Amino acid sequence: MKILVIMGSPRKGNTFRACEDLHEQMQKDIPVTFEYLWLQDAHLLPCRGCLTCFTHGEETCPNKDDAIAIEQKMHQADAFIFASPVYGMNVTGQMKIFIDRFSYVFHRPRFFGKKAFLLVTTGVLGAPSVLSYLEKVARIWGCEVVGKVGLITPGLDSGKIVTKNEKMIADSARVFTKSLQNPRKKRPGLWDVIIFHGQRGAFSQLEKISPADYQYWKSRGWFNPGARYFTDVRVNPLYHGIGKILGSISARKIQKELKN
Ligand SMILES: Cc1cc2nc3c(=O)[nH]c(=O)nc-3n(C[C@H](O)[C@H](O)[C@H](O)COP(=O)(O)O)c2cc1C
Repeated sequence: MKILVIMGSPRKGNTFRACEDLHEQMQKDIPVTFEYLWLQDAHLLPCRGCLTCFTHGEETCPNKDDAIAIEQKMHQADAFIFASPVYGMNVTGQMKIFIDRFSYVFHRPRFFGKKAFLLVTTGVLGAPSVLSYLEKVARIWGCEVVGKVGLITPGLDSGKIVTKNEKMIADSARVFTKSLQNPRKKRPGLWDVIIFHGQRGAFSQLEKISPADYQYWKSRGWFNPGARYFTDVRVNPLYHGIGKILGSISARKIQKELKN
């Protein structure tokens, strides 16, 4: 199993050590390799805000850098770890540049079948909200988020915190390993189904304004009348009903905006 660690920390510090500990624990149960994508060293320029990746495809991005190669690397991995320290109550700038540059994936999700584990370290505050943010990103990109851990890094009361972190890493390793061994496709939750129908309603109206989104969705059959989700998986009928209603509201809202 090949795990790509998308590393938001600029240094081999707490976040890297936590990933290495996780690796060591997981290797006790399954053969697993961790490859690090150090965002600090990647040639990934900040988004310029032109929106052409959304409307006309990622290949039209004016930034000529390693984004496409990074996406290919992501496709080659079995699973991802999104790893970041908390900086200013959020992910690091390196991680944010990465997420911004791959924003087209929010519109054209493509990482179905990839499991994602989220790992955040912090001095004191911010881990829950950063984990929640990363979870939204990973899920909209198509990943199945199989676990997450927020670690407070050792400070004054280091003995107790080290023991607690070791336990949290060991528990995380078990959860991540178990999920990698389980081929079963997870059924989407209500939130995932709402995202599907909300986007479906919107993009179905955007053939002229955002042809890249429109064509991507069309080519995958996601506009077909019977489409229930991005992938062939059972969807809770109640979630489907709610999603359909919200999808038509979303389509009507866009139609109205286009008329004005
Ligand atoms: C620029 C910067 C901003 C930080 N912001 C926060 C913060 O908002 N909340 C917090 O509790 N810790 C904050 N920290 C502490 C780090 O989250 C914490 O030390 C983390 O484990 C560092 O990970 P690293 O060793 O991989 O860089 C900050 C550290 C730095 C360098």
